[in-house]
Parts: sequence; C-alpha cells; structure tokens
Amino acid sequence: MALINLKDLLKHAKENKYAVGSFNVTNLDFIDTLIDAAVEENSPIIMQIAEVHFKYLNFEEIGPAIINAANKVKIPICVHLDHGQSLQTVMRAIRAGFTSVMFDGSHYPLEENIAQTKQVVEIAHSVGVSVEGEIGAVGGEAVGESAATAHAAQKDLFTKTEEAVRFQQETGLDAMAIAIGNVHGLYKGDPELDFDRLNKISQQTGIPLVLHGGSGISDADFKKAISLGICKINFYTGISQSAVNAARTYLEKNPGAISYPDLAKKAMLAAKETVKDRLRVFGSAKMCVGEKALCVSCDEETCEVLDPRFQPEAKTVLYSDLVEKISKEVISQLDK
Ligand code: 13P
Repeated sequence: MALINLKDLLKHAKENKYAVGSFNVTNLDFIDTLIDAAVEENSPIIMQIAEVHFKYLNFEEIGPAIINAANKVKIPICVHLDHGQSLQTVMRAIRAGFTSVMFDGSHYPLEENIAQTKQVVEIAHSVGVSVEGEIGAVGGEAVGESAATAHAAQKDLFTKTEEAVRFQQETGLDAMAIAIGNVHGLYKGDPELDFDRLNKISQQTGIPLVLHGGSGISDADFKKAISLGICKINFYTGISQSAVNAARTYLEKNPGAISYPDLAKKAMLAAKETVKDRLRVFGSAKMCVGEKALCVSCDEETCEVLDPRFQPEAKTVLYSDLVEKISKEVISQLDK
C-alpha cells in the first residue's frame, strides 16, 4: 500500500529539505502519467483534484481510480483535494478515500476562515486525513481557456505573518498555503517572490508551507523557497502547456491524423517529462531509494530499501472503515 497522508509526507520533506510536487489530475490520462513519472524518478508525489476542475471529470469515479492505481506501486502517494470550497466537497473527498484535503477559505475574513478550517480539521483528523488551508490569497487562474490571461500578484493579498501564526495555532492544520508573490496560471512579467516574508512565516509557524502557482517560477527561486520552508509545490499549467504543445506539433506533422489515442499518448509523454523534470528540481527524486529513503509501502520481506529512516507516526487507515467513522463524526458535529 503506497497511500500516505500529507502530514507524514511533508514531515519527511521538511526534515530532508525538499518539496513534494502536487500535480492536478484533470482526466484519466493523467493518472498513469503522474504515477509513471514518480516511479521512474523514485519520488513521492501528490496527486490532486481541484474543485474548479470538477467540470472535466466525474469525481466519484476518478478519485477511486487514482487510489486504486496508487495502491499498486511502492512509492508513497498522497491523494489530495485541491482548493475544496465547502465542507460538503471535503466530505466527498474523504468518502472517496483521499488521504488529504485542502479547504480554501482564503476569500473569507480571517475569523471565518479560521472557524471553517478548524471544523474541517476536526472532522478530517478524526479519520487520519490531513488538511491544508490557505491564508492570504493566491490569485490568478489555472482553469480552462481563461488561464491564458496572465496575472500579477496583488501585494495587499500577501500572507501576513501574524495572521499565519494565528491561523496555524487556532486551526491545528497540517500544511499552510501562503501568498508571497505567487499566482495561479500565467504570470504577468517575472514572478517576484517575497523570500523575507516566507522566511518569517516559516520561522514563526514551524509548519510545512505550500507554494501554489508553481508554473512560471524559476528553478533557482524554487530551490531558495524550499530552503526557507516550502515543502509542497502545486504545479499544473506547465504540464497542460507541455501536453498541448506536443499535441499541436503532432497535428502539424500529421495533418491527416484521426487517431485520438495516438494524439493523447504524445501529449501525455510530454506531460510526463515535465513532471519528471519538476521532481528533480524540487529535490524529491531518488527520495524512495538510498540513504534518505522515504518508505511506507513495503513490508520487511519484500522491502528493497535497507534502512528506511522514515516511519509514519499515524496508524494505517483502513479506508473501507472510513465511511462509518465519518458518519459518526459528522453526526456528533451536527449535534453540537
Ligand atoms: P499552476 O497551474 O500555476 O502551476 O498552479 C497550480 C496550483 O497551484 C493548483 O492549486
């Protein structure tokens, strides 16, 4: 079993100073593409579905398909809800067997964001599911054709250190998405990350931090951000661009093409190379073998890793038991 929750995964990342790539699944083709990339790089990976992408897929069908595929490989895989907009969506993800959820209350006033995120944390933690929240607001767009419009980060929406500290202390969340000059989708001009702010937030919260809007950020900036506390990097637009560019080239070379599977295969091969490249830049490649091994999936008899340094603290969750546990927890919350 290769499923891991976000808390355990990011603990290893923080200790070993790398970031785990979190890549969006927008259709079935992405499942094998992402898993193959991670397996080939011996890297842990986070596979996420964003609520804004629900229009492209059937969540209740594709979620279990990701989990099923993840369970077949040895590398640790976290299956995560990206930008969940309500408790209802969070519950759907937990019910589908996701090991981690993001509740994005960043558009609410601080008190409301704290209250709603805290409620999600209480419910999710009761069944071993991790929670990411967002404080400050990462703008931009990473969905559909409107993602082609470039955005600049809005300074007034950057995360304030004192609010981040309160958010962490009062919600008890596992990972925190912050706004430090990053935006989703294409950047207007070069991204300018506020590293001083990142450093302060990391020092004062001590929690694994998440950088959304990874596409367009330079390799040097990624490395610096990781050294200052970024442990999870969300990356999607760059993969979509690679896939579309490869499809365009294929169609230019083969104007009479009629085979969709061949077109999709070319697109996904390009997407896989982009993901592999990111895993190397984020420093997670080779984390499943050798000295710093991250190992959750093997038993002693079949383990190919001799000295797994990493042992998850959380007990293995039987996902078949989750629905019952969740129902009880929700009923107890509603009774309050
Ligand atoms: P990009 O599409 O800009 O890489 O951002 C992805 C993301 O942050 C998803 O939450």
